[in-house]
Amino acid sequence: MRKISKVTAMQRYAAECGRSGTRVALVPTMGCLHAGHMSLVHKARKQVGPGGRVVVSIYVNPTQFAANEDLDAYPRTLDRDLADCRAAGVDVVFMPSDSSMYPDRERGGYSTYVNEENLSASMEGGSRPTHFRGVTTVVAKLFNIVRPDVAIFGAKDWQQAAIIRRMVRDLNMAVKITVAPTVREADGLAMSSRNANLSPAERAQADVLYRSLRAARAAVRAAGSVSAAKLRSGIRRVFKTAPLAKLDYVEFFHPDTLEPVRTVSSGTRMALAARFSRARLIDNERL
Ligand code: PAF
Repeated sequence: MRKISKVTAMQRYAAECGRSGTRVALVPTMGCLHAGHMSLVHKARKQVGPGGRVVVSIYVNPTQFAANEDLDAYPRTLDRDLADCRAAGVDVVFMPSDSSMYPDRERGGYSTYVNEENLSASMEGGSRPTHFRGVTTVVAKLFNIVRPDVAIFGAKDWQQAAIIRRMVRDLNMAVKITVAPTVREADGLAMSSRNANLSPAERAQADVLYRSLRAARAAVRAAGSVSAAKLRSGIRRVFKTAPLAKLDYVEFFHPDTLEPVRTVSSGTRMALAARFSRARLIDNERL
């Protein structure tokens, strides 16, 4: 497994793959890898086969964190991540520095961003207004540097995946986007690097997101269709059983357009976010 830190070295590697017709799959991550990430790596290998190259990027991207957010507290476990990547048969780990990704940013010398203007406004974008500009910018940069044929994202970040698909379509990027299912702990909690920042008491209550999704799904399956308002009050009741979690938003929407719906039926997607003392968790499912 190769470790590449320099943007120019990664570009040389990508150009060589291009010249030799070697297919490349990219799994973009911010590190603190868990079984959910590893499922993306396996999917990446399936997509390019044994002769292709699987590249995992590990980069905690500062531009997707607002000043008051958890950039400094974001968990970092590089040695373990590298060991996991090696064990999973990753070919290259790309781990650039801030100064190579955003030269001179601190002094205003970096000034080009990619902005998706529609799907980014709601849900995560409502709570974190500059977040998706940072995500689309860094993902576009990673695509330019790594030149992947395919890139794999997790369904836990459903809105992110929809925005990246839109960016790829709108900007004619030659990369196929694949979305892999959410991997869950035994109690249903979606695997996330941020789970590491839950206290034991919070961890015991963190299944409230999944319990809310299940309660909504059960209500929709029982009635055929239910108003979003009614489902929201049901979810607020579920959150009363987990006082350490504060519901940030819950939304019901079309899976592709992310348009909110007032009447929820089978096929509608539900997403929610909850705040704990040092972690903010998100989850979503098809109802
Ligand atoms: O989902 C993530 O971990 C990040 O948003 C991503 C896609 C790696 C961009 O920094």
